[in-house]
Amino acid sequence: MDNFTFYSPTQFVFGKGTENESGAYVKKFGGSKVLIHYGSGSVVRSGLLDRVKKSLEAEGIAYVELGGVQPNPRDTLIYKGIELCRKENVDFILAVGGGSVIDSAKGIAVGVDYEGDFWDFYEKKLGVTKALPIGTVLTIAAAGSEGSGASVVTKEDGMLKRDVGSDLLRPKFSILNPELTFTLPAYQTACGATDIMAHVFERYFTNTEEVECTDRLCEALLLTMVKETPRVIENPENYGARANIMWAGTVAHNDIVGVGRSQDWNSHNIEHELSGLYDCAHGAGLAVIMPAWMEFVYKHDVNRFVQMATRVFGCELDEANPENTAKAGIKAFRQFLHDIGMPINFAELGAKEEDIPLLVEKHGVGDGLTWGFVRLSAKDIAEIYRIAAKATL
Ligand code: NZQ
Ligand code: ZN
Repeated sequence: MDNFTFYSPTQFVFGKGTENESGAYVKKFGGSKVLIHYGSGSVVRSGLLDRVKKSLEAEGIAYVELGGVQPNPRDTLIYKGIELCRKENVDFILAVGGGSVIDSAKGIAVGVDYEGDFWDFYEKKLGVTKALPIGTVLTIAAAGSEGSGASVVTKEDGMLKRDVGSDLLRPKFSILNPELTFTLPAYQTACGATDIMAHVFERYFTNTEEVECTDRLCEALLLTMVKETPRVIENPENYGARANIMWAGTVAHNDIVGVGRSQDWNSHNIEHELSGLYDCAHGAGLAVIMPAWMEFVYKHDVNRFVQMATRVFGCELDEANPENTAKAGIKAFRQFLHDIGMPINFAELGAKEEDIPLLVEKHGVGDGLTWGFVRLSAKDIAEIYRIAAKATL
């Protein structure tokens, strides 16, 4: 195991009715004028937004609102949010929604006190040194942004999807009420489940040795998702299963299962070009890319793939030919994704094989190599897109 420091300062407030404590938590963390940020309307329709406002009013906290965050959140709304916060002297941002809303809130948070263009942080021109505090009321278990220091935003001009990371972007508090996820359509639930599993796999596939503790934690999360996802698709109001998925989603990405080990993130970066170009759901893009990436890299460490196959997907170990077991594990993962309603190839996702050169160019690896479990060249990335394009069960 490698040396590490781990910092996860977010206060998680979990359970039924906890959104009614939003106001008290904003107060606790020093907010006096709040920007309530939300998406395209699900929180209005469900009545959640009204409950959150009431909770702020009960604590005497003033607020302004900015809705309209799209999935794959855009820079254009973030500029509006920054202006609004400056004009209204906002000192706390409350994101009510999913990963897109939270990431948009983080974009506003880094931009308010920065004189230049907030996009500079996403282009890695400089690191984050200051950000407005944010809190979240989560409505979908997926991105893990409620516990992470990351934000992923799409620049409308050119549809470039880029990320920024800093501990300063970790929310002060996150309210996690599994009941708020009952209204999710099955497709969004499955996209979220896929993203959660991908967050674990990006950490699971490591070159670091002697990481049994985090391996086992990763496997616990994966097994939870394999068990609980079909249960919530069958019955969207299964509180117990929703609760397990919600906590798994947070733990999968606040990095507690990734510490002390090298990580990958190639599937995420390869996927981001798909959701950037086609505006598809991030989880759906991952369902197409991640098994293809696995097929491309498994020979790098067959034993690790055998471990996944046997411990997570219950495959029989073929002692004479462990490669068969590794391949069976990848096949089982793709089958699982198909069974929960995810696309498994370009046609099902709505992506086009002829766009592969463009996708590779947008990825931006150039003549170099990526970092990760297996370092990839532009040619490798093109091959992964090709495997993904043609995948079958
Ligand atoms: O906008 P509304 O009307 O709220 O509808 C949303 C949206 O259409 C809907 N939804 C959310 N909660 C709902 C609901 N519908 C009914 N009932 C509810 N309770 O679901 C749709 C998707 O929402 P979105 O926020 O886009 O989903 P998700 O949480 O999957 O976020 C995806 C974004 O997060 C980024 C992705 O790239 C993508 O842009 N990621 C962020 C990460 C991070 N910050 O750490 C890491 C991830 O790897 C990921 O890249
Ligand atoms: Zn993700």
